[in-house]
Amino acid sequence: MGHIQTENLCREFVNHRKKKDEDGKFLPDEKVSVLEDINIEVEDGEMVCLLGPSGCGKSTLLRIIAGFDKQTSGSILIDGKEITGPSSDNIFVFQHSGLLPWMTVWQNVELGLRNMEEVEEKRVEIQEYIEMVELDGFEDHYPHQLSGGMQRRAELARALAVNPDILIMDEPFSGLDFLTHMKMREEVVNMHQFLGKTILIVTHDIDDALIMGDRVVVFSKRPSQVKMNRKLDFPHPRIVFNKQTELSQLRDELFLMLGVSYAV
Ligand SMILES: Nc1ncnc2c1ncn2[C@@H]1O[C@H](COP(=O)(O)OP(=O)(O)O)[C@@H](O)[C@H]1O
Ligand SMILES: [Mg+2]
Repeated sequence: MGHIQTENLCREFVNHRKKKDEDGKFLPDEKVSVLEDINIEVEDGEMVCLLGPSGCGKSTLLRIIAGFDKQTSGSILIDGKEITGPSSDNIFVFQHSGLLPWMTVWQNVELGLRNMEEVEEKRVEIQEYIEMVELDGFEDHYPHQLSGGMQRRAELARALAVNPDILIMDEPFSGLDFLTHMKMREEVVNMHQFLGKTILIVTHDIDDALIMGDRVVVFSKRPSQVKMNRKLDFPHPRIVFNKQTELSQLRDELFLMLGVSYAV
């Protein structure tokens, strides 16, 4: 299960002021409202893309959902239960550079399967996840022997091995080159269609949201409110631009040649 509901969720931060006024007294602390009355519902198995200006509170919201931070008021329910702290059992936060450098790809993925006892069963699953992210042949490589994109894919395989109900990804494609970004986006879409997990993704790329999301939620500037919450009920693979011109057909051909099947 992976149903998420926020009810009038607010988060304020207190800015401790270091400046003094004319009389030499410290200025009072300042309250900064970051999230204001956020009401969103994420269905079990839905992939929701969050868009919004930098600093509006997207990462803060993800941290609260993962239980690493706490709201100032309002509530957040996961499968109907209010969350009170980090719940590693059903939520996994996908991190960049989350691989352990002294372990191989295989060992890193194996870490995710900590609750599985049966060795043969474990071996089959690890192989499955590694193949799903197209890293077969690199099982014995250490992270430093992989390109940035391959490292990110290995991290994805590990996230899948944990088999969480909810996968949280905060700008998962940042720092990747354009083609790797597109390939990885395809992989996330395929993985989502295959495994049907609830996924929350923060991205600054509008095309990411249109191509991947079952729903797009747009936040305003701080204090942040939901400006748009729209279901994207379009079949995959999604084509965003009209592909009529000769030049865009050539563009498609080049993308295909470079390993991206569905160029936007
Ligand atoms: N622990 C904190 N203490 C004080 N302010 C914070 C803290 N965490 C985040 N903020 C502030 O909250 C705002 C939203 O931050 P963040 O959630 O990282 O934004 P986004 O991910 O949308 O770019 C920023 O202005 C940031 O400075
Ligand atoms: Mg952020």
